Amino acid sequence: MPVQQIRLGSLQLSSRYFLAPLAGYTNLSFRTAVRELGGLGLATTDLVNARALLQFSRKTMELLQTCPEDRPVAVQIYGAEAEYMAEAARWLENYGVSSIDINMGCPVHKVTRGGGGSAMMCDAGGTVRLVRAVVEAVRLPVTVKMRLGWDDDNLSAPFFAREFEQAGVAAVTVHGRTRAQGFGGRVNHDGIRAVVEAVEHIPVIGNGDVRSIADAEHMLRTTGCAALAIGRGALLNPWFFAQLTRWEATGDPGPPATYLQRLHFMNRHFHLLVGHRGERFACLSFRKVANWYCRVLKPGRDVQQRLMMIESVEVFDGIVEEIRQILATRVGQDWPDAEVNLRVPSGPVEHW
Ligand SMILES: Cc1cc2nc3c(=O)[nH]c(=O)nc-3n(C[C@H](O)[C@H](O)[C@H](O)COP(=O)(O)O)c2cc1C
Repeated sequence: MPVQQIRLGSLQLSSRYFLAPLAGYTNLSFRTAVRELGGLGLATTDLVNARALLQFSRKTMELLQTCPEDRPVAVQIYGAEAEYMAEAARWLENYGVSSIDINMGCPVHKVTRGGGGSAMMCDAGGTVRLVRAVVEAVRLPVTVKMRLGWDDDNLSAPFFAREFEQAGVAAVTVHGRTRAQGFGGRVNHDGIRAVVEAVEHIPVIGNGDVRSIADAEHMLRTTGCAALAIGRGALLNPWFFAQLTRWEATGDPGPPATYLQRLHFMNRHFHLLVGHRGERFACLSFRKVANWYCRVLKPGRDVQQRLMMIESVEVFDGIVEEIRQILATRVGQDWPDAEVNLRVPSGPVEHW
């Protein structure tokens, strides 16, 4: 069976498995390294503030770093003011990105008084006007990413999805948790299904806790969603997109990545970071990422600590060599454990 393709408005994607935005992780280097493994339908940048973008803030411009190989790519923007959001979208269209994703937050007033992305859901009329303003500002497909609602008593995602569809969005992504849940509890598949049933024809992209082929199959089957956005599962297993597309085409995801392949990936990721952002940034930002790699590679505490403190490419290369030697001693153990503990933010995050 051929891999199911999917369209977001005018944008034809080669697979329905997308990389969800993970602020601090899904930068150009990680996206590029994942794309090289195959199967990725669409990647999204970390969220960027529309106003900061229009002021060309240095940090925002760094988040927007991309290159011709980094396609198709969506840029996720947030902000409560329609005119800035529309202007930012226009700028991004000229910049050459593939689509615009609007980040939507929580729907309860007392939590959102401070404004920002989450304030949008408190004012349904204003929010729909904002989304419409962005849609009308560009020819690119515009999508919206949201949670199910504030809590189990306020599941507003179906309402918003329907309104956004009327406003012209090309798809909505739904993280199947409420904002009150943060990252705890279980993903509510019925909640995502309610969004699928609420819209007329736009694709709904299911999101949350998809880490294995079985999770993906379950999410697709029980919600009827058209595509999947995968975040943390891709950090743990960057081969996931290739495995999903192979599974979809043949019924067999193929073998899991070996320890050695994972080491090569880590090496590639780091060296791409050096190329894209320079040695100092690569070393500093790798501290956070090293933690994820070590959870899987398990090179031992000492190596992990040194990897998290690297200050030069030379030191990094030396540690990679050390890990290679450690792996060589694991005779008959080519593959890491499937189950790895995931670290997540401890509560809801204001702009997600
Ligand atoms: C470290 C981290 C950073 C995130 N950054 C963003 C972000 O910038 N924008 C957003 O919409 N969601 C963000 N999210 C939420 C994810 O995109 C996703 O909705 C959530 O992690 C559930 O999917 P998963 O289980 O596949 O990771 C982030 C999540 C994590 C753990």
